[in-house]
Amino acid sequence: MPQNPYLGIERGAPGRIGWRIHYFDEIDSTQEFARELAANGAAEGTVVIAERQSAGRGRMGRTWHSPAGVNLYTTIILRPKISLAEVSRLSLVAGVAAAEALEREAPGIVALKWPNDVWLRGRKTGGIIAEAVSDSHQQLSSVLLGIGININLTADEIPPELRDKATSLRVATGHACDRIAIADSLFSLLDSRYMETLNGGFDSIRAAWERYSALTGKRVSIVDGGVRKTGVVKGIDGDGALLLDIGNSLERIVAGEVSVEGAYDNM
Ligand code: BTN
Repeated sequence: MPQNPYLGIERGAPGRIGWRIHYFDEIDSTQEFARELAANGAAEGTVVIAERQSAGRGRMGRTWHSPAGVNLYTTIILRPKISLAEVSRLSLVAGVAAAEALEREAPGIVALKWPNDVWLRGRKTGGIIAEAVSDSHQQLSSVLLGIGININLTADEIPPELRDKATSLRVATGHACDRIAIADSLFSLLDSRYMETLNGGFDSIRAAWERYSALTGKRVSIVDGGVRKTGVVKGIDGDGALLLDIGNSLERIVAGEVSVEGAYDNM
């Protein structure tokens, strides 16, 4: 294994986020290595980071552009005692931690687009995926929380087809940022937001999430299972579902195979 530049930010005992950080120059996907670690009993809070991913994965079967040496690609192993249905809330918890970490570098321009995109000036700079792993009794055994943040990617390095939708911290602020310091903030903020959720429920996270919400009050179209729904976003509910006012009723859109259209036009 190459020398691990993230070794200095490992902290705490097993169970705390970032207590152990596995580091790779290159890997297919941090999600897959984390899956193996989790299957072999890795403790909660174990982290995998790679400089480059050859098969980085996004939500809904998309690929995650993962060039070397510029961004943060990480998966955190969690072992919460929650039901499978509650797992999607964890990606919202991670969204709040990621927004708070970026806020320190780029105050006033950070937003969250439901369900789990992190935006800077209305363009995507980060994405989150929460994959549930269950045991033979269909009980949740771990959650692989994957977070990708474009940090020092330059405008030229953004693939042409993503240029009107994607950005990086460097593009948005005009200067290069310290990836290790950002990872350090992210893990410590995630550790406290995660503990807060386990101990006190989702409500306080929900309030923090709402403060960053890019879509609340905006008119959007959502394609959910092939059906298009258009309405005004009212926020999220206590389960993390999006509340959409479609005129005659308030629809709950649950996290899953949902894509929000028209969001960029509304910014
Ligand atoms: C999305 O917005 O679609 C979610 C993107 C998640 C990307 C991260 S990068 C680290 C981890 N490894 C992966 O292959 N995917 C996640």
